[in-house]
Amino acid sequence: MTEKERKKQIIAVGGGKGGVGKSVLSIALGVALSKKGERVILVDLDLGAANLHTYLGIMGHTPSLADFVLKRVSSLQEILVPTDLNNLHLISGAEFVPGMANPAHWMKLKIIRHIKALDADYIIIDLGAGVHFNILDFFGMANWGIVITAPEPGAVMNAYGFIKASFHRRLQQIFRKEPTIGRIIEEEAKKGEKQSRLTLQWLKDTVKRVTPELYPIVHEIEEDFRPALVINRVPAGQTHILVTNLINLCKEKLGVELEHVGNLPDVREISSYLLNIPRFLDSQVGRPYFNAVERLLQRILKRDMAVTERKVEYTDEEIEELIRFIDGLDGSLFHETSRNALKLRLYFKPHQVIDFLESKGVSHRLFYQ
Ligand SMILES: Nc1ncnc2c1ncn2[C@@H]1O[C@H](COP(=O)(O)OP(=O)(O)O)[C@@H](O)[C@H]1O
Ligand SMILES: [Mg+2]
Repeated sequence: MTEKERKKQIIAVGGGKGGVGKSVLSIALGVALSKKGERVILVDLDLGAANLHTYLGIMGHTPSLADFVLKRVSSLQEILVPTDLNNLHLISGAEFVPGMANPAHWMKLKIIRHIKALDADYIIIDLGAGVHFNILDFFGMANWGIVITAPEPGAVMNAYGFIKASFHRRLQQIFRKEPTIGRIIEEEAKKGEKQSRLTLQWLKDTVKRVTPELYPIVHEIEEDFRPALVINRVPAGQTHILVTNLINLCKEKLGVELEHVGNLPDVREISSYLLNIPRFLDSQVGRPYFNAVERLLQRILKRDMAVTERKVEYTDEEIEELIRFIDGLDGSLFHETSRNALKLRLYFKPHQVIDFLESKGVSHRLFYQ
């Protein structure tokens, strides 16, 4: 495995509300990284209202995700669209076909697996507005989840709603097939904001009491679920009271640490560059907007993931093989419930499932490159 392959990162930009600056920031991150020589793929997963192609100045018909969904192509590599920057490619959501906005569950999982297997140093995912499960699951596939909001009450409450829904979705995904803890989580999630105790601390206490063998998974969620908060249209260094409230709300109501990684200044000229955001960014090199993007990147990437020598990309066939392998393992290795949890989680992070299997002394040829 080369140095480059090891550090492939997926960054997702979400935020709940439309118009808060997700797409502009996605492109800014892509442009800033590609200017550093990184190979970047931008993926437009705002499936109902894709606009990255427009912001990138790409006119005319290009291949798009619709070709993949309709099986006109079998790999995402085939629909990469070049941009004016050498190292920056786009997977466009431009062509709209029925069912595109909300792909079926299996298609969503297939899209996620194929995005994770793309050949790039950075993959940047631009999400749509709202808290639909598909949006939450796309957000959940990233190593780095960025939540961007404007410092306005409506946008901040939407950002909180998005973080809360992502957190609950993560818990439900992971524990859904666990008869005992899964049901307890479902019931807790259904309670209103006032009564719900669905915080990380509550989860730790409950899992310890009810299904202690699943405790390592809770620990992993705690390490993993740390959204990075970006405030748009606020000068660098300022912390708006609404931002402080949002961070406190996440801590109190969810037990989730939200890290405020920076602000982006309000720049009126953007509106003159909506048919070519990279050109806007060129005009900003060394100026406040571009400097702010660079600072954000530094803050986010300094939390770099521990690198692993393990194989991290799996084809659909290999994943099926791993699931069959887990099914065939001796039940005494772990509880039946944790076997189900492993199978479920394999759809998302195979290498973590494999770390767990290896800790139990199990090995398989597919675990390595
Ligand atoms: N930092 C900023 N300063 C001024 N205008 C901005 C800024 N960021 C975004 N905008 C404007 O806000 C609009 C919405 O941005 P966009 O990235 O498309 O939002 P979203 O993807 O969240 O719907 C754009 O038309 C852009 O002109
Ligand atoms: Mg957008």
